[in-house]
Amino acid sequence: MADDAAFLDAEADELERAAEAALRPRRLADFVGQSVVRDQLALVLDAAKARGSAPDHVLLSGPPGLGKTTLAMIIAAELEGALRLTSGPAVQHPGDLAAILSSLQEHDVLFIDEIHRLARPVEEMLYLAMEDFRVDVVVGKGPGATAIPLTLPRFTVVGATTRAGLLPAPLRDRFGFTGHLEFYSPAELEQVLSRSARLLGAELEPAAGAELAGRSRGTPRIANRLLRRVQDWAQVRGTGSLDLAATHAALSLFEVDERGLDRLDRSVLRALCERFGGGPVGLSTLAVAVGEEPETVETVAEPFLVREGLVSRTPRGRVATAAAYEHLGLARPDDGALWG
Ligand SMILES: Nc1ncnc2c1ncn2[C@@H]1O[C@H](COP(=O)(O)OP(=O)(O)OP(=O)(O)O)[C@@H](O)[C@H]1O
Ligand SMILES: [Mg+2]
Repeated sequence: MADDAAFLDAEADELERAAEAALRPRRLADFVGQSVVRDQLALVLDAAKARGSAPDHVLLSGPPGLGKTTLAMIIAAELEGALRLTSGPAVQHPGDLAAILSSLQEHDVLFIDEIHRLARPVEEMLYLAMEDFRVDVVVGKGPGATAIPLTLPRFTVVGATTRAGLLPAPLRDRFGFTGHLEFYSPAELEQVLSRSARLLGAELEPAAGAELAGRSRGTPRIANRLLRRVQDWAQVRGTGSLDLAATHAALSLFEVDERGLDRLDRSVLRALCERFGGGPVGLSTLAVAVGEEPETVETVAEPFLVREGLVSRTPRGRVATAAAYEHLGLARPDDGALWG
């Protein structure tokens, strides 16, 4: 979570990532939803296992919190290889990548998170490693430096990105399989939730699960986060059981409404409708009105508001839709004119 205002940010902080580790499905069969990607991946992995060889490199793309890291771990587990974890920003220099590559064993999975953020020289070394299973290890410095070519064992790169469009084409082309993760349906989120509740040692009432699923923005990370708050509420203030009453109470405490909007989303929407007559208004003006950075409004609140059809982005600025007024229980300016 970025900050308190954005309770439903789909990004996770360190603490949350630790809590999530316990809820991650370990095998493809336990992975809920994403049936297209799951079936495709199952085929790729089964074929590789049958041949006794490493599968093609896999690229996973999609918004935060939908299961990219989880799938990378599952791929390593299914292949019975070791998982090496790194990320675009973590490998700054080609030497860093060379060190990782030269330590890989046959059938290992190298997971590169945020792969769109690799530095250019690192990317170029990766091309060669992915295609020819070779890396040039540079020994020494300056004019006396020599490159020693090293042959690498067959390994699999699993790249994850929230911004597939930012990947340079040569890198994208080196992935034999790309899985696009989609937002989850409420029914799928109900399954995620009941599985998570079981792992947390609690039982989630079906009605409560349905309610939570509807407010989780199609995102398992958010579903699990809401579930933990309901569990907190049930333990401290409720009867201990994860029922509809505990769900309603916890969600109202954390200001998550029935459509899954949090306080930040609603204040953006309210400012747009009430202070700017529904727009169009520029991003920075809107951000000042809600006391947030433009970046927060644009990356945290706006994508969901647009996805829900509450806000549209036009060349002249942000505009509230009819659905926005309806959601806030406000009369549209036009309606007022009819009566006034
Ligand atoms: N299909 C699923 N079934 C059950 N739980 C899931 C599923 N997908 C994701 N989760 C849960 O949601 C949480 C977030 O998933 P994960 O970390 O894999 O997302 P991500 O796509 O890597 O996000 P980010 O882009 O922020 O790195 C984890 O706790 C994971 O257990
Ligand atoms: Mg991840």
